[in-house]
Amino acid sequence: MPMEIDSKLPEVGVTIFTVMSKLANDHGAINLSQGFPDYKIDWNAVKDHLSPKTRLMILNSPHNPSGSVLLEDDMQALKHILNSADVLILSDEVYEHIIFDDVIHESISRHPELASRSFVVSSFGKTYHTTGWKIGYCLSDEPDVAFSRRITIDHGVASIPVSAFYHDHTDHRVVRFCFAKKNETLERAAEKLCRI
Ligand SMILES: Cc1ncc(COP(=O)(O)O)c(C=O)c1O
Repeated sequence: MPMEIDSKLPEVGVTIFTVMSKLANDHGAINLSQGFPDYKIDWNAVKDHLSPKTRLMILNSPHNPSGSVLLEDDMQALKHILNSADVLILSDEVYEHIIFDDVIHESISRHPELASRSFVVSSFGKTYHTTGWKIGYCLSDEPDVAFSRRITIDHGVASIPVSAFYHDHTDHRVVRFCFAKKNETLERAAEKLCRI
């Protein structure tokens, strides 16, 4: 039966994707053309690909190169499918400030259930329009004392957890590295940190 054309871009017209899909349908052809991409994540497909071996999920929003952004419903779907899974999330949010139309950047860190299992990657290069600096930072939900202890013991660089200076141990997840050191000391520490 001839197919109705339903354009996703009514003001613009009909795309080649729609035209070829209709032609395939009308002539019973096997449709190997590509659908019009909306760059939404198919969370059911993601769920089907999770296995007990899955350790880490890498996300990128706002996304390069498609420009798509994860929305509140994506976060809900993600929470749902990871609910009982032992999976960490690496959330690449380097384009967090390049977002339009009053859309809220759904950082993983806004969602406590997800934040506790996530690492958020941000880039000063992108935020301050200094591409090429290659300087950024990574956020995690690990308490600062635990983080300081871990990188001292496992990676050989000691720092000061800032919560130690608050009488109630308020923890902003910030550690302090002292830069008043010899260049060679800082270089050795940087080498070790870059290896993590
Ligand atoms: C999605 C994404 N993540 C990370 C990076 C790396 O950013 P930077 O070079 O500022 O560290 C890029 C750079 O193009 C990027 O597109």
